[in-house]
Amino acid sequence: MDYQNNNIVLMGFMGVGKGSLARELARLTKRVAIDTDDIIESMENMKVKRIFEQEGEAYFRESEKKVSLWLERSVKNSIISIGGGFFHVGNLKEIGHVIYLESSFDAILDRINSSKNPEKKYKKRPLLLDIQKASALINERHPKYLLASNTVIETAGKTSAVIAQEIIKLLKL
Ligand code: S3P
Repeated sequence: MDYQNNNIVLMGFMGVGKGSLARELARLTKRVAIDTDDIIESMENMKVKRIFEQEGEAYFRESEKKVSLWLERSVKNSIISIGGGFFHVGNLKEIGHVIYLESSFDAILDRINSSKNPEKKYKKRPLLLDIQKASALINERHPKYLLASNTVIETAGKTSAVIAQEIIKLLKL
């Protein structure tokens, strides 16, 4: 299948497993996995949590826009996991084939709570600290994720290995 720059973009709510899936897919398809939060952290020399605290969310969103332009111009043949709010950049579909990893909020919380270090996973995500607000946020974003995506995959209860195989089959990688 032909898509922009031959990149695959993994999109979805915080904690859905974009990073693990990107690494698994990269391993299986011999590509490189990159993550937009990691790029922002090296660009700003600051953790995401710190950027939110010190510079505010609007500043973080601007950094995401800069990264999106760089990705469109300079990155090819890669598996790109994006932050849960990255979809707001104007050029997502120009970066690659966008896969929305869909999941219920309960399944996301189960996934985080059964991981090795749940506390760390909550702590590094400022927008996940208030569970009620996060639950409202996922509902508000769901239709936007649908619009921003080329393909939707239901992920609740599936391992990244299973989802990776689904994507490989679907996109004939
Ligand atoms: C955010 C998601 C985070 C990170 C930041 C904001 C969001 O990335 O970009 O904390 O707005 O949903 P992950 O989805 O990788 O946790």
